[in-house]
Amino acid sequence: MNAVIRAVGDYVPDRRISNEELSKTVDTSDEWIVSHTGIHFRHIAAEDQAASDLAIEASKKAIARSGIPVEEIDMILVATATGDFPGFPSTACIVQDSLGAHNAAAMDITAGCTGFIYGLETARSFIASGFSKNILLIGSEVLSKFVNWKDRNTCVLFGDGAGAAVISAVNDTERGILFSLVRTEGAGARLLERTAGGSRFPYREGQTDPNDFFLKMDGRKVYHFAVRVVVDTIKKILEVNNVGLDEIKYIVPHQANIRIIEAAAKRTKIPIEKFFINIQEWANTSAATIPIALAEMTGKHLLHEGDLILTVGFGSGLTYGGNLIRW
Ligand code: ACO
Repeated sequence: MNAVIRAVGDYVPDRRISNEELSKTVDTSDEWIVSHTGIHFRHIAAEDQAASDLAIEASKKAIARSGIPVEEIDMILVATATGDFPGFPSTACIVQDSLGAHNAAAMDITAGCTGFIYGLETARSFIASGFSKNILLIGSEVLSKFVNWKDRNTCVLFGDGAGAAVISAVNDTERGILFSLVRTEGAGARLLERTAGGSRFPYREGQTDPNDFFLKMDGRKVYHFAVRVVVDTIKKILEVNNVGLDEIKYIVPHQANIRIIEAAAKRTKIPIEKFFINIQEWANTSAATIPIALAEMTGKHLLHEGDLILTVGFGSGLTYGGNLIRW
């Protein structure tokens, strides 16, 4: 049995913030943001919207398109770094209840922006083992709730959104998630972090600095890591699977910075047109960038049954990896 992506769906909040609008509240400019990141807009969740709310909307679309009754979903995986609650309960449990997926196990995956890539391999493994038949995998993030909107180094980079995929066991050895590479460089764990509220830095009266609830990042170091691992991952996936670049229809990269994608394209000598890029509109939605891209691509009829695509990403952890998928 292969794990085949049967359908995808996305949800992005309505509130759209331009660079121009942002530059009225923080010391930045459209010129700087576009030239350093490729981002023009980001969409931001409403005050009362949490990660599960976005996840549920994206899931409803994916489930409806899949034609699978919700009772037949036996596993819900939510890749998120910005879950409804810190630690527990998992966001996946909130989603399970809301969807009425009464026969599903539910858990979150914490692998930063690589979460959906890790999730695809997790889903593939559960299906290959025979344990699961229909898995709902979601990437959902509301980073707007955790960035310091006064810190121009980080607040311009992120947006909110969710993407979902229904992945089913299908008796077809050609299609589906064919191969995954999932790796970690934990030595860089503290290059991208949010410290307060975890067991390392629990709340301590009079000592907890409210700034520690915000995301902090060494952008330069993450940038260099990202380019290196995106290049290595693409090369490795092609090499291990004995696949030529001409066989790949699209590379779907994590959308963190257009310069990372351009640098990787240059180093691998892969034409930039091979990479699907939509960072202009959504900014970095962390674990949601890849499923949002897949939903957008299917909406634009860019993906057809039998197409070979390669996902590649990186994120806090530091984690990285990619998947080879026959659509
Ligand atoms: N507007 C104007 N100026 C800015 C802004 C801004 N928004 N942000 C930084 N600057 C300034 C800095 O203060 C600095 O000024 P200085 O030279 O006077 O000190 C100058 O611009 C250059 O700053 P750098 O940090 O060197 O800029 P760089 O070209 O490295 O770009 C960036 C910064 C965009 C963060 C880049 O390093 C990057 O993309 N890193 C990777 C980030 C990433 O991928 N994060 C997510 C990965 S995992 C995940 O997705 C959760």
